Parts: sequence; C-alpha cells; structure tokens
Amino acid sequence: MADLDDLREGSRFGVGVPVANQSFHMKGCDNLSWGMKDRLSRVFNPKTGKSVMLAFDHGFIMGPTSGLERIDLNIAPLMEYADCLMCSRGILQSSVPANTNKPICLRADAGTTILTGLNDNVIIDVEDAIRLNASVMAVMLAIGDSAMEAKTVANLYRAADAGAKYGIPVMGITAVGTDMARDSRYFSLASRVCAENGANIVKTYYCDGFENVVASCPVPIVIAGGKKLEELDALELCYKAINDGASGVDMGRNVFQSENPIAMIQAVSAVVHEGMTPKQAFELYETIAKK
Ligand code: R5P
Repeated sequence: MADLDDLREGSRFGVGVPVANQSFHMKGCDNLSWGMKDRLSRVFNPKTGKSVMLAFDHGFIMGPTSGLERIDLNIAPLMEYADCLMCSRGILQSSVPANTNKPICLRADAGTTILTGLNDNVIIDVEDAIRLNASVMAVMLAIGDSAMEAKTVANLYRAADAGAKYGIPVMGITAVGTDMARDSRYFSLASRVCAENGANIVKTYYCDGFENVVASCPVPIVIAGGKKLEELDALELCYKAINDGASGVDMGRNVFQSENPIAMIQAVSAVVHEGMTPKQAFELYETIAKK
C-alpha cells in the first residue's frame, strides 16, 4: 500500500510518476483549471516542458503561401513529428484528418487579408473551438498600431474569458506586420500585455536581449520562425531561443519551405526537446535528408 510519503517521494514507483504535490511543468500555470492544464500538457511535453508547434495558418491572411499550396502533400507528412498543429478552422476541417490525433492550436481570429494590411480581427465563437476540440485558441494582437491595438487587445480579453469558461488556453500572438525591426523593449511590452490580458501562452519573435523578454513575461513564450533562413541559421535561431528561456517554437516557413521539411522538423525537435546544438541538429538534418 502506498502512503502519502511514498506518493510525495515517488520513490517506490520510479522516476516520472506524478506526485501528489508536484507543481505544474509550465511557468505561471499552477493556478489554472484541470482542463486547462490537461490541454496544455498535450501541447507542451511534460517531460521536457517544451513544444514544437507546426504553424501552417499563414493562408488565412496570405492565401496559398509558398510551401502551403497543398496541405495534403506539403504538410500532412510533417504532422507526426510535431507536438501540436496550428491552423485555421477551414484548413483543419478540410485538410487535417480527424484521426491525426495531435493537439490543435486553432487560429481563433478572422478578418482582413495581407492585401489591406494588418488583421483588424474578430474572434470566432468559442463553441466552434469546442466542436473542433481545440487545445489552444490563438489570437493576434497589433501592439503599437494606433488603429487596431485596442480592438485586438479586447479580442484577446474576450477570448481569454471564453477560454477560462471552458478550460481552453489562449495564445496571444504579437504581430509585427511588415515591420520586423522590433527590439526586446517592444517584444517585452507586447508579450507582457498579452499575459496581463489573459494569454496563457505568448508567441513572439526572437531578438537580441530575448532573455529579458522571457524574464518579464509571467507565462511561457514560444517563438515564430519568421522568413525562411538557411537551415543551419534557422536551427541556430531555435537553439538561442530555447537557451534564452523559450518554451518552444511555433514554426512555419523555416520548416515547410525547407529543402527537406521532414528532416528539418526532426532537427528542430532535436534542438527543442533534446538540447542538440545547431551543428549536431544540422548533421541530423543532413543525415535524414540523405535517406
Ligand atoms: C503569424 O501570425 C502566423 O501565425 C504564423 O503562424 C507565424 O508567423 C509562424 O510562422 P513562421 O514561422 O512562418 O513565421
């Protein structure tokens, strides 16, 4: 018979057995509901505390982005290597098999396209997110954009209210539009605003001084990859972000526009979950690509 002390120590039952008083494996999440924690645990591996999210939501603003013309051909083969899939509801319903069995980070906002500037968005109905069994709802914030800032912050606030009601975590995305020349002061401000308004996860960009962005944000941060880089450079970006405190990546173009996307996502995963250096991960990329 196990008594409470055994459970606390986890001793008789081996390493990795959950103990009664263990705190949750993600920063700032201890006070969330059981349902929220369960959904977050599907996305962020409890053993490493990290996640490789595969982002292919670009089309809802940009149309058929290069590498995303055919979800069935370009993205489906990558799904098994991702911890989580991030996409719009239209792509989820039409192109992601329902037996893929991966947690979904659902793009939960909608609005304008790249043709008319940043997305002046509205959030989708939370019931739709529930029907689609979303593990996370993602909402973009246009911090610093005088026309859209207030609207998008309010969108996040409403999404966080709905998420809290039904136990679905919300990701705040700090949009930069076409102006990528943002620094750590901007990303610190934008990330903190996301968290203060109820985001349970923040997606932002890597920058010099990224450790300060992480330190001043009370919830986990994942990084977007941004424009396509050489494979080694993209792996270095992942490595630096993880080293500086990121809880994972939510990466798109640097995976699906790679010369070998299947090799690339495995190399990214090795950096994120196994702590491989960029050089080691690039060697892994080349080895897999040769097969
Ligand atoms: C941006 O808002 C989109 O949500 C993308 O998911 C995000 O930028 C990640 O994709 P990428 O790594 O291509 O930047």
